[in-house]
Amino acid sequence: MSQPVNDRRPYHWLVIGGTGSGKTYLARQIIRVYAKKPDYIIVVNSSKQLREFARHHEVVDIAALEAGFTTRELYVLIKRHGAVHFEVSPGGDEKDIRRFMDCLGNAAMELGRLETNRCMVLMVLDECQNYVGKKVFSRGMKRVYSEGRKFGVDTVNITQQLAGDGDTIHMTVRRMISVLVVCPMDEEAERDRIQRTWSELRDPGELAFPDPKTHRPGEYMVRDRGSRRACIVRVDARGKRYTEPLFRADQRPAPKRRRGGPAPPKRRAA
Ligand SMILES: Nc1ncnc2c1ncn2[C@@H]1O[C@H](COP(=O)(O)OP(=O)(O)O)[C@@H](O)[C@H]1O
Ligand SMILES: [Mg+2]
Repeated sequence: MSQPVNDRRPYHWLVIGGTGSGKTYLARQIIRVYAKKPDYIIVVNSSKQLREFARHHEVVDIAALEAGFTTRELYVLIKRHGAVHFEVSPGGDEKDIRRFMDCLGNAAMELGRLETNRCMVLMVLDECQNYVGKKVFSRGMKRVYSEGRKFGVDTVNITQQLAGDGDTIHMTVRRMISVLVVCPMDEEAERDRIQRTWSELRDPGELAFPDPKTHRPGEYMVRDRGSRRACIVRVDARGKRYTEPLFRADQRPAPKRRRGGPAPPKRRAA
């Protein structure tokens, strides 16, 4: 992940992995690379994590969600503070969360500028299925994913699952992801889903989890759609990182199958 933000390439990141797999840790590193660059940072989650990037902490509890915000109010708040952390109550009603995210997405787009060549606004959504899942997906956020690039609005999306018991990440988000980071995970259905969705990736069950006791870093896979490159970041016995390519330049991943088409043959784990 050296110099991920160096040109006008769009960056919608997706960091996916099990609990304790190092998602938030990696997200921090990604945001740090961005941190000096954007004019505005918007963090959305339901905890105090990632608060260090914000200058203002706004608690959006159920009452605030019910009362609602306007795009204008959110725009003014972010404009004033530059970096805002919204701690959104996960117990809010779906329609209230959708309305809030709609206004937030629109505010982010207004803070950007048409035809800019840099990231002006960085949106970070931790447990993003709560904010851009199918049930709560809004027009404002649709604009962010499909047109954010033109306006300098980038996103870092963090989640445990593409789909599962809770909400499923909206297709628009999946389609627009430019850099995918896959952290270790145990859950079998989700591991299958990952390999079916991105056939060039290996089984994320093979990756080692980080160890907070020994400070041993976790392993992860990265896939950059722009360069069509993918690699595994491994950790050796002494705790040092090294990278392993996932496929050689002459070994392009199989073409994406069309919806409803036959599944590509499964790759055998090395
Ligand atoms: N690369 C790393 N090096 C050292 N410790 C790490 C690393 N990645 C994660 N950890 C530690 O592992 C634990 C779980 O990481 P975290 O990012 O909170 O996982 P997640 O967000 O996926 O639940 C934390 O205590 C974190 O500090
Ligand atoms: Mg986390």
